[in-house]
Amino acid sequence: MKNFLIINGPNLNMLGKREPEIYGTQTLFDIEKKTNQLLAGDIKDLTLTWFQSNIEGEIVSRIQKAQSEHLDALIINPGAYSHTSVAILDALKMLKCPIIEVHLSNTHRREDFRQTKLTAKASTIIMEGLGPNAYYLAIKSQLL
Ligand code: DQA
Repeated sequence: MKNFLIINGPNLNMLGKREPEIYGTQTLFDIEKKTNQLLAGDIKDLTLTWFQSNIEGEIVSRIQKAQSEHLDALIINPGAYSHTSVAILDALKMLKCPIIEVHLSNTHRREDFRQTKLTAKASTIIMEGLGPNAYYLAIKSQLL
């Protein structure tokens, strides 16, 4: 049995409505459903836990909790906190499992302030620009 935690940060609960030309039209719930469907062949051997918060401290607490959860990998889209949060970086550094940082958009093509990624210092893998399939591809990368 493989155990994955998927954390989404601020404003990702607004996917579908939020800048659809950048982030697409699927809601976060649509993405969760689609990810589960795409993993149908593997799903009986997987536990996927999805968590979303707009609040930095809640994300830090969820990562701390993950320390005792025997995760095979953490998939995290820290949203805007990627660019600002030392607290999330420090929490990520305490995790022993692989950390896959996901960004739906290719931030390299975007504003200068998105070029600093504090959380990336703790990430094992970074996936950008794959859109909503990124969560599926991140999990699948750990099953191959
Ligand atoms: C994002 C990119 C961030 O710069 C932005 O603040 C987000 C979403 C992405 O998935 O492309 O909220 O992490």
